[in-house]
Amino acid sequence: MASETIEAFIENNQFRFQDELFELLRIPSIGTDPAYVTDTRRAASWLHAKFKCIGLQTELIETCGQPLVFAQSPPVAGAPTVLIYGHYDVQPPDPLGEWTTPPFEPTIRDGNVYARGATDNKGQLLTHVFGVESYLQTKGKLPIQVKFLIEGEEESGGAGLKAFFRNEPLRAESAKEKLRADIAVISDCSQYASEKPAITHGLRGGVYFEVILTGPNRDLHSGYFGGSVSNPANALCSILGSIVDQGGRIQIPGFYDEVQELSNDEQVQLQKLDFSENQFRDEVGANELFGEKGYSTLQRRWCRPSFDIHGLTSGYQDAGAKTVLPALASAKFSFRLVPHQNPQKIKEAVVHWLEEKCPPGIQFEVNSSAGVAAFVLETNSKYMQAAAAAIQAGFGRRPVYIRSGGSIPVVSLFTNELQIDTLLLGWGQDDDNLHSPNEKFSLNDFQKGIKTSCHLLDELAVVFDVSQY
Ligand code: BES
Ligand code: MN
Repeated sequence: MASETIEAFIENNQFRFQDELFELLRIPSIGTDPAYVTDTRRAASWLHAKFKCIGLQTELIETCGQPLVFAQSPPVAGAPTVLIYGHYDVQPPDPLGEWTTPPFEPTIRDGNVYARGATDNKGQLLTHVFGVESYLQTKGKLPIQVKFLIEGEEESGGAGLKAFFRNEPLRAESAKEKLRADIAVISDCSQYASEKPAITHGLRGGVYFEVILTGPNRDLHSGYFGGSVSNPANALCSILGSIVDQGGRIQIPGFYDEVQELSNDEQVQLQKLDFSENQFRDEVGANELFGEKGYSTLQRRWCRPSFDIHGLTSGYQDAGAKTVLPALASAKFSFRLVPHQNPQKIKEAVVHWLEEKCPPGIQFEVNSSAGVAAFVLETNSKYMQAAAAAIQAGFGRRPVYIRSGGSIPVVSLFTNELQIDTLLLGWGQDDDNLHSPNEKFSLNDFQKGIKTSCHLLDELAVVFDVSQY
């Protein structure tokens, strides 16, 4: 094999890695929008071809939804195995007018690549693909077995992945057997700040709702009818407006029953993180911060539940006044959940709340997602230590331990179905604009992520004491 070191290989190939990232970013794999189903599949094929090209065994696994891309190094029975997960679907790019350059034409500015999916998750997931490629190209063989599982429905409920775990459609090898691993790794979150790499040891969960309220059989003149017929828009505002009180506390009975306060140790850990409320406020551009009374901003973001409306539709939206009493109003909203809250129980409590608060003359229809449970992991496991050493080698700094407010649904499948822990090693930044216009990813961190991925394989091999195999 070539005598080039891995670090040199990564540096010598950095522009090719970038070109390949750009190829994937040009594919508009908007998984949530049925109009892009062919493009989404194209992203899966791109990854499938890439895995083949770097010398892994790979297959496209068909599901009821988007295909899963599976790849692995040649299997060795009983070999210690890391399972790397990522997702090739992206969020819709709208509002399009807010983008400085088009979302599916990756563009470099100030050392960042701007494109939908740059950080979430194409750029981050490719660090592991190129990490494995670099390792194989320079050393010929990986120190432990590697499996990749890349899905295309992370942003839209993951129906295909869930079906795969239930072995639908039936396959010779069950999902559990196929994915058997000792530890999972996901890079789909952020560092603590610029030059402050982190290991994320907890995520919030969530439940997502869509509700449609209907009243009269058509839009009515509010002069003739206002005051005598329930208005679905009014009803929606009052129902949703009653969910959180002025102190930022969710009012639904039983909502906080399972929520635990942070231990003293955990609070101390958070306080050590040198967080500036003012800097955070300025970065989001709000003139004041607001959240549940009695908790710091970091606690509110990572360790407390929250409620947010994502979209509201009703009535007349165009220019000028129109005194209409609309026949329909709808909303999309969700709750972020914390450890011990049961998504199913929360769902039932929310539906009950809607029933109670729905005024006379209004009917409602509600749909909700299956829900994702939150989790938090101990920070002192041997795997965490291996990840910390790899980050130290790849980023030149020791990571800090953080939690995060987002959700990655697959983690609970790994915990419950595969009985393995997940290392969340995010290379992004909080201001990467994921799900927003002008999403970006630092090309420096792209390269450091690739290096760290290589080091992680070596560090995990030490944990597994690979000489024994
Ligand atoms: N990459 C994010 C999750 C994330 C973001 C974790 C920031 C930590 C920090 C992921 O792609 C995502 O957006 N997940 C959704 C899940 C939902 C659709 C079930 C989320 O958190 O809203
Ligand atoms: Mn993501």
